[in-house]
Amino acid sequence: LTMQELRARMEAAGQGHVFQHWNRLSTEEQERLVVALEGVDLDLVQAHRALLLAPESASHPVLEPPKLFPSAPQGADAERAQLAIARGQAWLSQGKVGYVLVAGGQGSRLGFEGPKGKFPVGPLTGRTLFGWHAARIRAAEIRYERRAPWFVMTSASNDAETRGYFESERYFGLDPDSVHFFQQAMIPALDREGRMVMSGPGELFLAPNGHGGTLDALHSSGLLDRAIEMGIETFSYFQVDNPLARPADPLFLGLHLLEGAHMSSKVVAKSGPMEKVGVLGMADGVLGCIEYSDLPPKLRDATDDQGRLMFRAGNIAVHALQAQFVRELTTDGLHLPWHLARKQMPAVDEKGQTQTIEGIKFETFIFDALARCPHSVTLEVERALEFSPVKNAEGADSPDSCRTHLTELFEGWTRAAHLAAPPRDGSGRALIEVDPCFAETTADFLARMPRQAHPLAGGWLFA
Ligand code: UD1
Repeated sequence: LTMQELRARMEAAGQGHVFQHWNRLSTEEQERLVVALEGVDLDLVQAHRALLLAPESASHPVLEPPKLFPSAPQGADAERAQLAIARGQAWLSQGKVGYVLVAGGQGSRLGFEGPKGKFPVGPLTGRTLFGWHAARIRAAEIRYERRAPWFVMTSASNDAETRGYFESERYFGLDPDSVHFFQQAMIPALDREGRMVMSGPGELFLAPNGHGGTLDALHSSGLLDRAIEMGIETFSYFQVDNPLARPADPLFLGLHLLEGAHMSSKVVAKSGPMEKVGVLGMADGVLGCIEYSDLPPKLRDATDDQGRLMFRAGNIAVHALQAQFVRELTTDGLHLPWHLARKQMPAVDEKGQTQTIEGIKFETFIFDALARCPHSVTLEVERALEFSPVKNAEGADSPDSCRTHLTELFEGWTRAAHLAAPPRDGSGRALIEVDPCFAETTADFLARMPRQAHPLAGGWLFA
């Protein structure tokens, strides 16, 4: 592309302003801008602009709760669960599962500099979020005597630091060759008129394309094809912020397989109607995630004959996806709808001054792929065992609440094993930690007894 062609293209697309400070840029800055602009998918930008400028249509779909597989199955469900566990275990032993961790976001709400996965949450060891996930994958390697690939999605802003961190931690005991990093795509944000936001005179403002972009990035990095070549048939997908995510859960994988599902999800019962999580549900008969704000109060508060919330299937962002389904979704571009998010961002004006404006980011969400699944399992799991995300600096979903949940869970296991109570810190919190390679459930823990804890930091470490 010649400079003239690039200019003409941008102008034709109504994006000529990207060159408005051209003459003030150094040669180096000009070169950088050209490279950035050449990397922009203008068709996509035009589609986003059309979406932004289109009049909002108020739709009121009919919402219904999804069919849930219960966390404490009885009767026929219990039999199916047994069958599923065996199926899932066989699948893991045969090396059919690849792990996909999304860690492209920044820990901005947490107020943490650097990749969120480096945040320490181990109550005694200070084990980081990445460390917990790695330990669970290591535990599955040991249990199923099989190495499995781990695909870690980063973004431009944290890729180098994430890779460096895995190096310095020696891949947490995993084989470096089985850890594959890939980067999610960054796309332009738009201002209210649909023009690409420039954060500096020669700088395009780019934002990650949402966790739906994971699928696209798996494909475009070539890792999807490689995974399929390795014999991977199912991806186990989870988010970096939840140290309790269990990527190698045979029950979940097995139910997904028995159902012949393309994509399945784990959910936890909402703690109450006001908890701000998306819920899985059907909109006009199509499965998806209903945003907290899209659930009318009457439905939000509605209960079933057992007094439980009807719309309680809180999304914990844990999914199983068939590799072939990911291929279908990503052939010739990503086939997921775009969501608009208004966000404060830096933008340079005509005079070359940088201001903060309300711009629009465009994102795709992985759960929108559920709409394209003829078969899907929604498994309800116990919150205490599987969900305690670290999102905020304080209060709910914070490092502190997460450490409390971890210690409560582990202490419950010691009670089930009739051990003496563990020591406590000044605030009354038990000083205890259990390595996932030691146990991930009560049953695992009991099977390990009698084993002694190692003393650490005044508490008990089971490892
Ligand atoms: C998300 C879900 C919500 C669910 C909750 C459970 C959405 C829109 N909502 O909320 O339904 O109840 O998790 O914890 O997803 N990420 C990327 N790249 C991106 C965007 C996100 O890698 O472009 C990763 C982040 O690193 C993070 C995860 O996706 O691990 C979640 O993103 P976040 O924006 O924090 O979602 P929540 O608002 O917490």
